[in-house]
Amino acid sequence: MEEYNVDSLGKWHHDIAIADGVRTSHLSAPYNGNAFVCKEKIANDIKNIYGDSLKDKKVLDVACNAGGHLFELNRFGIKSGFGFDVRSLWIQQANWVQRNIDIPCDNLLFAQGSFDLLKHFADRHFHLSLFNGIFYHLANPINELEKVANKTSEIIIVNTAYDPNSNCNNPALVYKNESSALEHGLSGVEGLSWHPNGEQVLFKILAHLGFPYNKLSFKNPDNRRLEVIASRVPDLI
Ligand SMILES: C[S@@+](CC[C@H](N)C(=O)[O-])C[C@H]1O[C@@H](n2cnc3c(N)ncnc32)[C@H](O)[C@@H]1O
Repeated sequence: MEEYNVDSLGKWHHDIAIADGVRTSHLSAPYNGNAFVCKEKIANDIKNIYGDSLKDKKVLDVACNAGGHLFELNRFGIKSGFGFDVRSLWIQQANWVQRNIDIPCDNLLFAQGSFDLLKHFADRHFHLSLFNGIFYHLANPINELEKVANKTSEIIIVNTAYDPNSNCNNPALVYKNESSALEHGLSGVEGLSWHPNGEQVLFKILAHLGFPYNKLSFKNPDNRRLEVIASRVPDLI
C-alpha cells in the first residue's frame, strides 16, 4: 500500500475500508468536525433492491467526494461506475483508494468537474444514479437533476438536507444561505442554494423528470436529513 501523505492529499470525509484492518479513517483526522461518513449501509440497501442483477448495473455518483459509494458497491460487484466532483482534492483521494483498495476497481472512473461532464454519456447510459449530499448545494437543483435523470434508465436516489421548519403540506424549495468558499471542501460553489421542505417536493420534481414511482427511505428532523428513491419503472423499488 502506498504511504498516505495527509499534507498533499488532505483529511478524509469518507471512511472507506481499504484492506483488512485499514480504513481511510485510520489515515487522517476527519475533514469535517468530528465525523467521517461511511457508505456501507446505502450500498447494502442498493444490493437489496437489485440482488444478483447489481453486477450488470452502471452507476453514476454525483459529487462523489472520495468515491465511497462506488467502492462499497464494487465490493458486491457492479458493471461500471462513474463519479465526479467539482473539487480536485476529493478526486485525488478517490484515485488513491482505487490504486490501494484490496478489490479490483478498474471498472470505476473518477473525474474532477461538474454536471457538464454528463454530456459525454449517452441518454440512459446509467441504470442507477446517486444524488447524495448535493441537491442543497446547487443554485439550479432541478436543472442539474434533469441532466442526471436524462442519463438514468432505472433509479435515482436523492439523499439531502431538508428544512423541517417549513410547512411540508405546501411542497417547496426554501432559500438556503450557502457558503460558496472553495476552501470549504463540502459546500457548493455557486453561492445560492435551496432546501426541499420535505419529500413531497422531491417526489413532484422526480415525477416531472420521468421517475414517477417513489418512496421515502428515511426522514430525520433531528439532523434535518431525508432520502427518497425514485424509479422510472414500476415494481423495482
Ligand atoms: C456534502 S458533500 C457530499 C459528498 C458525497 N456525495 C456523499 O454523499 O458523501 C458535497 C460534495 O459535493 C461537491 N460539490 C459541490 N458542488 C458541486 C458541483 N456543482 N458539482 C460537483 N460536485 C460538487 C463537494 O466538493 C463535496 O464533495
